[in-house]
Amino acid sequence: MLSESLRPYFEWCGNTWLGTAVRNTTWAFPAIETFHLLALAVLLGTVLIVNLRVFGLGRQYAPAAQLARQFEPWLLASLGVLIASGIPMAFSEPSKCFESVSFPIKMGLIVLGIVSQFTIQRRWVINGDAGGGKAKLAAVLSIVIWTLVGAAGKGIPYV
Ligand code: HEM
Repeated sequence: MLSESLRPYFEWCGNTWLGTAVRNTTWAFPAIETFHLLALAVLLGTVLIVNLRVFGLGRQYAPAAQLARQFEPWLLASLGVLIASGIPMAFSEPSKCFESVSFPIKMGLIVLGIVSQFTIQRRWVINGDAGGGKAKLAAVLSIVIWTLVGAAGKGIPYV
């Protein structure tokens, strides 16, 4: 799916110290992937807690706007861990990532997720009318985008 002209960049990543070290150390990939998946649990957990609250779930807790504000640092921190652990895994298997259709889709969705967090989530859920139609749209988009990122991550070795 990716243009052949990008292949040298992927090969360069694979030949860096990081790529070679992760590839040549048996336990490194599974250890890094463990942190990737723990951070994924936190990210999807916060996304669901905040955005399902927009639809009225968990009324005994704080209102959606307040929850969204409180959980945003958790979302951003878990995303930071996902990116920091994803890069060494990708560097260790550059040809798998280059040939996978899921990999570029996942990267594009991550960019979309980050942009939507800093725009519509902040404007319509954190600072807007968290019960309104726009907040509901932002909530659905957030759940859909981050779930698809996870699915595309799982798809890297297969598609
Ligand atoms: C720049 C950021 C990221 C990079 C470079 C990256 C890269 C990778 C790589 C290389 C793998 C291993 C694929 C394999 O099994 O061979 C992986 C797995 C995975 N990633 Fe990421 N990732 C990133 C962020 C994320 C985010 C934000 C999520 C979720 C919201 C995510 C979810 C997953 C999942 C679910 C797996 C599959 C784990 C498994 O097979 O059990 N990743 N990622």
